[in-house]
Amino acid sequence: MKESMLCLAASLIMGGAAFAQNMTFDVSAKKKGEIPETLYGLFFEDINFGADGGLYAEMIKNRSFEFPQSFMGWKVFGNVALMDDGPFERNPHYVRLAPTGHRWKHTGIENEGFFGIGVKKGESYRFSVWARVPEGGKAQKLGVELGNSDSDNWTQMFNRVELSIDSEEWKKYEITFKAEKTTDSAFLRVFLESDGVVDLEHVSLFPVDTWKGHKNGLRKDIATALADLKPGVFRFPGGCIVEGTELGTHYDWKKSVGPVENRPLNENRWHFTFKHRLYSDYNQSYGLGFYEYFLFAEEMGAEPLPIMNVGLICQYMSATLDEHVPMDSLDCYIKDVLDLIEFANGPADSEWGKVRASMGHPEPFNLKYIGIGNEQWGPEYVERLKVFMKAVRSRYPEIRIIGSSGPQPEGKDFDYLWPEMKKLKVDLVDEHFYRDEKWFLSQGTRYDKYDRKGPKVFAGEYACHVTNSGRNQFHAAMVEAAFLTGVERNADVVEMATYAPLLAHRKGWQWRPDMIWFDNLDICKTGSYYVQELFSHYKGTDMLDLSMDKNPVAGLEGQNGMYSSAVWDENRKSYIVKIVNTSDKENSICLNFRKLKRGETLGDARVISLTAATLQTENTFDDKHRIEPEETSLPVSGSEVTVKSAPHSIMVCIIPSVFRGNP
Ligand code: AHR
Repeated sequence: MKESMLCLAASLIMGGAAFAQNMTFDVSAKKKGEIPETLYGLFFEDINFGADGGLYAEMIKNRSFEFPQSFMGWKVFGNVALMDDGPFERNPHYVRLAPTGHRWKHTGIENEGFFGIGVKKGESYRFSVWARVPEGGKAQKLGVELGNSDSDNWTQMFNRVELSIDSEEWKKYEITFKAEKTTDSAFLRVFLESDGVVDLEHVSLFPVDTWKGHKNGLRKDIATALADLKPGVFRFPGGCIVEGTELGTHYDWKKSVGPVENRPLNENRWHFTFKHRLYSDYNQSYGLGFYEYFLFAEEMGAEPLPIMNVGLICQYMSATLDEHVPMDSLDCYIKDVLDLIEFANGPADSEWGKVRASMGHPEPFNLKYIGIGNEQWGPEYVERLKVFMKAVRSRYPEIRIIGSSGPQPEGKDFDYLWPEMKKLKVDLVDEHFYRDEKWFLSQGTRYDKYDRKGPKVFAGEYACHVTNSGRNQFHAAMVEAAFLTGVERNADVVEMATYAPLLAHRKGWQWRPDMIWFDNLDICKTGSYYVQELFSHYKGTDMLDLSMDKNPVAGLEGQNGMYSSAVWDENRKSYIVKIVNTSDKENSICLNFRKLKRGETLGDARVISLTAATLQTENTFDDKHRIEPEETSLPVSGSEVTVKSAPHSIMVCIIPSVFRGNP
């Protein structure tokens, strides 16, 4: 009572006017349990051109001429033939360039990239190609040019380098140049400039400045934005990509490792999943493969989390049970899982550890988690998972296994699967929820009653899909933040949570909202990105109890649309309180700290807020700063903090613990 009176007085002084509501949240300084390092992570899938044409920095589409339509993405002119006895067993096609026999007719090939090729003036790019002079004899000359057709200039081309192909044997040729122009829509042209025959395979163009400078690397701006979130876990390769449309098109990790030139093409199920957003040229090159995923996870400081196929194709797409792998034919799928663990963790002289070592990583990747089955359901999933689990448990008992609770966060499949997962004793259960704002607001206490003795939760795919809008409005970000306060309050049962999908090319998306949008030159972070950033950066180390009239602050009746959670951060020696106001009223919140240690008091707070002009506001490529965290400071003394919580706002208050005298 005494504290509340003080809080009320403070709020009146602070604002100089009456607030709509005064509320007191009691924060207990007594630690309740550790926050898992993995709590906030990343879900990655090659959807929306997230990998090829996105995070994977390769700029040439169909670089090995292996698309079902061999010249898709290419214009060929003059005397060009498609050949199929190339140097790479799993990518046999290549092109043969020969003179036309006419002085004015040229031979060459031209690639359109992914919605164009994006280059920036002054930045360096590496062109590489496997080539030979099949007839031997003198060296042959290639002209490699960048141009764009919308140019007003006398010439379309703005960059040109020459390459001499001098060997009868297949060899890799490489040349680096600086772009003379900035454009998001260049094309790459390779001319035969001399009078002999030249064979070309694996035609590639990368920026030199990739994430960490890796040659088969990632786009630096996108990778940096992901790493900046400080994710605790990195889930890959999906999503439905794990399952495939029919047997044989599931993501096959073994084809995604080893020399990049010999990784075969796989169709991308997202090219045709939605007829209204069809991309017939969307395939997976596997250039961004499991080695690159593991390495990226390591470089971000995140736990790698591969999701493996359980012998089921996408159940949304299958009409009958016959389309799945029969129970008595699961062996090679199970072997894929066991071999993957060896690839990640096995010694450098083991069969698969050797492959990892040959790619440049003799040390293990220290894999701890594996998901088996993405978004599967029904007894057909349970019976398969059981067999997979037995095999993994007996060989690798230390690996934590994640099972699925199906595609919905409640209902028939969910209610069937959770008890089954408990019976199977999986370590974590993957829950997926793409739901509207009302649903998110109703889930403030979702995890409060979860069984503490059962499997942990992996909120493996979630995003608010605002009613009648697929866009990344602030509204979505706000309710996601409200939901995450409930996740944080229950961090003893929720071990990880990953927003989905992560990336979308603005010219090539199939699904929205997404966390980060990009085009060929730039990225645009959404409000949802900043929510992830705030929760991840300020996740703290220990859970604390925060309540109002002894109830959690979770949008309950009488709580004015407020959601809140509190943690202790051992590294910052600070209390961190997150406050989400989903109402259209300002609320004055008194944070009343209890159980502080003897001599402990609170120091001036940093307050980071995320707001927007309206609920519909979203960041755009033209204005990326409409929704962005803003930091202020707040004078604090004693054991109480009074903050003004603006309508429709997210706040993170970082309040240092201060000891006067000896602690
Ligand atoms: O995130 C998009 C898709 O949603 C995922 O691929 C799938 O798992 C879910 O249905």
